Amino acid sequence: MKRNNLTIGLFGFGCVGYGLHEVLQKTPTLKTTIKTICVKQKNKARQLPQTAFTFDRNDILNDPEINVVVELIDDAKAAYEIVTAALRKGKAVVTANKKMLAEHLPELLALQQEYKVPLLYEAACCASIPIIRNLEEYYDNDLLESIEGIVNGSTNYILTKTAEENISYEEALLSAQKNGYAESNPILDTGGFDAKYKLVLLLAHAFGIVVQPEEIFHVGIDRISNLELQYAKEKELKIKLVATAYKNDDGTIAAFVLPKLVAKQDKLFRVDDVFNGVITKTSFADTQFFMGKGAGAHPTASAVLSDISALSYDYRYEYKKRNSTEKLQPETEILVKLLLSHNTVDKNWLKAYFSEVVESYANREVGYIIGTISLYALRQIIEKSRHPVSPILLEAMKPSLQPVAVDDTSVYDFAVVE
Ligand code: HSE
Repeated sequence: MKRNNLTIGLFGFGCVGYGLHEVLQKTPTLKTTIKTICVKQKNKARQLPQTAFTFDRNDILNDPEINVVVELIDDAKAAYEIVTAALRKGKAVVTANKKMLAEHLPELLALQQEYKVPLLYEAACCASIPIIRNLEEYYDNDLLESIEGIVNGSTNYILTKTAEENISYEEALLSAQKNGYAESNPILDTGGFDAKYKLVLLLAHAFGIVVQPEEIFHVGIDRISNLELQYAKEKELKIKLVATAYKNDDGTIAAFVLPKLVAKQDKLFRVDDVFNGVITKTSFADTQFFMGKGAGAHPTASAVLSDISALSYDYRYEYKKRNSTEKLQPETEILVKLLLSHNTVDKNWLKAYFSEVVESYANREVGYIIGTISLYALRQIIEKSRHPVSPILLEAMKPSLQPVAVDDTSVYDFAVVE
């Protein structure tokens, strides 16, 4: 069904919902009308008169004139109810809810197929960067080998502010919240969950593999201590939260989210503040780099707008790579070289988990180990350690990722404060 005139039912009028309203006012060429806006809280002050809103979701879901539902609410459970109800009623859906999408991708794929309606979600992954549509369309034929990137704006903003402007982690987080970058539960950002949800979406479109978020190993930025921040600064390196996925020769896909030390030569080095950056590597084109604002009202609204516009020519994701037999590489087999800082005196039990230790040091208070370890072993350490440990990726053990050549001495002479 071609949707020449798009009549929108909008759920949510927060940061992105209001942003979309503004952006639509400024793009009159797109034939769209927001007919109804549904919000939850009745007594909240909003930029439009109270009469512009309904509090009953059925006012949208049961309205036959509304052919597009735009879902921009915060609550993933309610979002799932709304999105599935809308698809079942034959309405096209645009959503930015990565948590909801990542947790329910198989059901949502089935509903799109059964009811023959599009569900678009460019805004759910890297906000203003059109990465989903590029993976879906452009990289359909060229063999994709890896995708790696900074996919969470808030944590990148926090890392930039704490490293470069000497403001505290708490202040930086507060500022990210004030700017409308952070999730309402910021642990989703700082704990690396949001990046993992986005990686689930990237995997579906990059490699045709649909996985549950729990299957992906992740560490956020909440373990990073002053020690690693100081070390990075001294060595002119930066710590970035990086989502990585690559295809192995046996066809399995390695996927994980970890803080990573990046050097000046790395394309991700200059991706600062709220920006996201994604590097793709394909067999023929070699590497390509996408960069853009990864959070905030207008960058996110711009991706929502692009999806709405795509509906007018009946665009839908075809998940062309879906029939592939690709599987996730087990954590026991994914090897990474990392720097693990810890504050346990007994470092020997930690070292036993490494398949190779390049260097280690410990004084009475802090210590570090540099070496190669499987993600499975790293998970064991994190789960079993009674003291905080902080892993920072140095390089993924995948040759085609071409890790930046930082000379050994600069990375490995880790100066521990005595
Ligand atoms: N909290 C998310 C981020 C919002 O900081 O990236 C955009 O998805």
